[in-house]
Amino acid sequence: MNATHFEGSLPAQEFSNILLDEVENGIYRLTINRPKTLNALNADTLKEMDAAIEILEADPSARVLLITGAGEKSFVAGADIEHMSHLTPIEGKAFAEQGMRIFRRLETLRIPVVALVNGYALGGGCELAMSCDFILAAENAKFGQPEVNLGITPGFGGSQRLTRLVGRAMAMELLVTGRTMSAEEAMRRGLVNHVYPQAELADEGMKLAAMIAGKSSSAIQLTKQLVQRGQDLDLDNACVMESDLFGLSFSTEDRQEGMSAFLENRKAKFS
Ligand code: CAA
Repeated sequence: MNATHFEGSLPAQEFSNILLDEVENGIYRLTINRPKTLNALNADTLKEMDAAIEILEADPSARVLLITGAGEKSFVAGADIEHMSHLTPIEGKAFAEQGMRIFRRLETLRIPVVALVNGYALGGGCELAMSCDFILAAENAKFGQPEVNLGITPGFGGSQRLTRLVGRAMAMELLVTGRTMSAEEAMRRGLVNHVYPQAELADEGMKLAAMIAGKSSSAIQLTKQLVQRGQDLDLDNACVMESDLFGLSFSTEDRQEGMSAFLENRKAKFS
């Protein structure tokens, strides 16, 4: 077992299936750490991810979360098939609900979440990446929802998020054939933000994280809400929400600092 002791400002936490570390001030990295199974997700791994999200939710200094997989071959090769092979239908539903709830919690986390996809992102791995705000992929990344090959459907939101991200026709093709997409195709279809050589992925992730961490955290938090909540609203209600949160952003210290800095011709220093 590869237990990780997380020493944050919050109570220390033991993890066996994930690693959680603060790479730089406010920039956290969560690594799915089951390389022998290509980082497949079982119930214990999901539970630890939930505990990690709890730590980040409670930490006001957290600015960005990077998520990646241990090793050079795989981000996450899906839900753990060995684990699932023993589940009854009721337990299968509970497993899906567990993953669904945790991925939603990740998606609605206050801070931006960046998936660094360093290899296979299949089934639950593709679903995990799609629950993040950004996907940066290594050139060797492969995306797909191959559940049909196992005689099951996606269970952690894949059929819904993929359809919203790449459109109905392509989502149907990927879900029904179970074929995988290269990183380049995934970028072309709007799933992935950028593709980098494998050796550069971690550094590019840090560059993006540092850029985000230097900006106003209150403005970023509100902007994330606008995009996340707005995409499921009709345009009228989404625009009402935008004026409301625009107004709310005027109540922050960051707005004072951001506008003063512009008018004084200096770089803003956000708190
Ligand atoms: N669950 C459990 N173990 C897995 C796994 C998974 N999803 N994916 C890979 N592994 C294990 C393999 O069993 C193997 O273990 P052993 O060494 O003990 O035999 C080890 O990881 C290495 O895998 P391979 O030898 O298969 O490696 P490969 O390079 O030949 O192939 C692969 C890589 C194409 C990713 C292949 O492993 C594969 O097809 N994995 C399954 C992918 C999949 O079907 N994912 C969807 C799961 S269902 C799901 O996720 C449902 C949901 O929506 C919630």
